[in-house]
Amino acid sequence: MGKRLAGKVALITGAAQGIGEACARVFAREGAIVVVSDIQTEKGETLAAELGGGALFQSLDVTDLAAWGTAVAAIIARCGDLDILVNNAGGGAGGGPIDRQQLDGHRRIMEVNVTGVWAGIKSVAPTMATKGGGSVVNISSIDGLAGVRDLSSYVASKHAVLGLTRSLALELGDKGIRVNSVHPGVIETPLVKSTSPASKARLEKALAMQPVKRMGKPEEVANAALFLASDESSYCTGTSLVVDGGHLAGPYRDPL
Ligand SMILES: NC(=O)c1ccc[n+]([C@@H]2O[C@H](COP(=O)([O-])OP(=O)(O)OC[C@H]3O[C@@H](n4cnc5c(N)ncnc54)[C@H](O)[C@@H]3O)[C@@H](O)[C@H]2O)c1
Repeated sequence: MGKRLAGKVALITGAAQGIGEACARVFAREGAIVVVSDIQTEKGETLAAELGGGALFQSLDVTDLAAWGTAVAAIIARCGDLDILVNNAGGGAGGGPIDRQQLDGHRRIMEVNVTGVWAGIKSVAPTMATKGGGSVVNISSIDGLAGVRDLSSYVASKHAVLGLTRSLALELGDKGIRVNSVHPGVIETPLVKSTSPASKARLEKALAMQPVKRMGKPEEVANAALFLASDESSYCTGTSLVVDGGHLAGPYRDPL
């Protein structure tokens, strides 16, 4: 079997670490020219240099629509094409009960997780359409498919990513652009490792109630993104791929 992304140009946001980094590594291994983008310049540049195969770093704050325009123009100038966008940058899983949340924090989560994805698709779609199509993979979450107590802003933002995925799949389909989402469960990344001891205890409890009783690895999410990014998923658009060790399959309990 040949390389699954041979010759494709793939822009990955938030790629300096965690799931985005894993996507960058897996996509490069599969023959893509990877554009590592992030607000963490040093880490991103180091990763791009390590990947080789034409990989490059592009500084990009996903909330900045003008910066998206600059980034896409720079990628076309250097690589001549843009076939794949992975909207991965995101975060803000903290939260707490709504009476303790602050408007600024809520707005920031929405800005990065929702506006960032919106701005990304808005910015790449004209170029992809001109070139005959492309594949957009949005990294949502299991929190984009079910509610979670004390996590309302993050949960709302990830549900919004699902809404963008479905609506833009419908809108961009006749331009040859597919739009799908990946919904990771608990994945071992810096985002999760930095949580408080209380959250860690809750995490252990949640993992014990999953069919696969461990955290997922970033590469396991990257493999799902790889399928959706590649031509192997040519009949998939507007779909949601859950990668969660069975977390959402149903309540892990004995029959009542
Ligand atoms: N780790 C998990 O368990 C998990 C589960 C479900 C969904 N997710 C989602 O997966 C994605 C990646 O998560 P992760 O765990 O790898 O997180 P992470 O914090 O390890 O990495 C996120 C990356 O995004 C970058 N970033 C943040 N704000 C940005 C901005 N405005 N513009 C550009 N880059 C920005 C950061 O610099 C960082 O490199 C996020 O969308 C997250 O919500 C993660």
